[in-house]
Amino acid sequence: MAASGSSSKSHAFQAPRGTRDFFPPDMAVRRHLEECWRHTSTHWGFQEIEGPTFEHLDLYTVKSGPGIVSELFSFERSGGDTTYALRAEFTPTLARMAVAKGNSLPVPTKWFSIPCLFRAERPQRGRLREHVQWNVDILGLADPSADAELISVAVAALDRLGLDPSQVQVKYSHRDVVARLLSGLGVPEEKLPTAFELLDRRDKMPPEVFTEKAVALGLDESGVQRFDELAHARTEPGVDPSTLGDLSSDDLEQLVATHRSLVDHGIADWCHVDLGIVRGLAYYTGTVFEIHETSGKERAIAGGGRYDHLVELFGGPSMPACGFGMGDVVLSLVLQDHGLITPDTLMPQPDVFVVCADDGAADQLIPICTRLRAAGLHARRSYKSTRNVGKLLKEAGQHRARAAVILGGELQEGIVAVKDLAAGTQHDVSLADLETTILDMLASP
Ligand code: HAM
Repeated sequence: MAASGSSSKSHAFQAPRGTRDFFPPDMAVRRHLEECWRHTSTHWGFQEIEGPTFEHLDLYTVKSGPGIVSELFSFERSGGDTTYALRAEFTPTLARMAVAKGNSLPVPTKWFSIPCLFRAERPQRGRLREHVQWNVDILGLADPSADAELISVAVAALDRLGLDPSQVQVKYSHRDVVARLLSGLGVPEEKLPTAFELLDRRDKMPPEVFTEKAVALGLDESGVQRFDELAHARTEPGVDPSTLGDLSSDDLEQLVATHRSLVDHGIADWCHVDLGIVRGLAYYTGTVFEIHETSGKERAIAGGGRYDHLVELFGGPSMPACGFGMGDVVLSLVLQDHGLITPDTLMPQPDVFVVCADDGAADQLIPICTRLRAAGLHARRSYKSTRNVGKLLKEAGQHRARAAVILGGELQEGIVAVKDLAAGTQHDVSLADLETTILDMLASP
């Protein structure tokens, strides 16, 4: 009788749209970025935190803005009545965690995290449904030097990855400055959030749609033109914002304060003012910034800014805050565009590769590998059974090992051959001296 309920048909499953499988070379790239992020944040005095991968849906609907809310993956537990959402960004989780600690948090509190985030976006170049995002945040400091410190942490990581200011630029602005300029054009107070949204999305729509939406804000023809000019107003890298012209002294003061601090941090040439930057998320309150490749080919590498009211809005004390998020997807594309990632060279490289070219020595292969690992060496072995030493050494080369240990007939006398694969030299070594020989070889240039 045929078994019921079981099917002999096989299914060709694929990863969900907009997600990635990470094979070893992909994982090597991901770890390379994460190590750079972790190293940079730690050296700048930030401490690592983590939160849950899903939150109550309401956490995002309160203040993240319609952009994120429309991209949530939300769900209910089977039989439950609570709605959750996969985390689409980390800032609401961080604000919730800050509320939980309340006034006991030291000032400043400097946190970083490297969460996986989920957004139900239309997958496209630079935008996926799951990405890894480095978040760096400072709580408790209202001074523009905190914004500049964050920007300089982001720049330090990009510099460490091999990028320079001719390849990437930080575009910064200030929401109050843009709000005052928009009010001056005649945009009513209640339409400012819509105007911010339009500015944020202006490059994603045809010019006639931008004009139509600008008219809907109450702007006449010349107002639309000035709005468009505002969207494109920027300084040259490193140049003092006073060159922008047409700004009130209050507006200038806010931009100049950030500029001065960027000069103090030694990164002014990585940055320029761009009044078209307002950011899509609704909680930002002051300085905002995005990091872009200068060719304009890729989407934003990072984005952030000040969100002085979010912790209080979530029920915590009044606490100024600022931060940014840098995603792995666009950053990887930018590094690839500039030839700065080669997955093969990022894969872990063994110190030593042990091969056995004599059946009589085979039983010593595992104990010798174990000894080498106990000495702190990254040791791999061949699983091939052959006397062809050339073939075995080729395999050691494919693993990019620095040294090969060849076990042969001389092992009975306590002798093995050690080959320096970089120099091409080979010596017989007493088994008792094996670890020190290899450690010395690795220490030599
Ligand atoms: P965001 O601009 O939404 O900001 O994201 C920051 C960065 O994450 C983007 O510049 C981009 O590199 C990457 N990113 C965002 N969405 C995707 C996606 N669907 N696929 C691939 N990469 C993506 C925030 O999330 C803020 N919460 C950042 C922040 C931290 N603000 C203050 N603290």
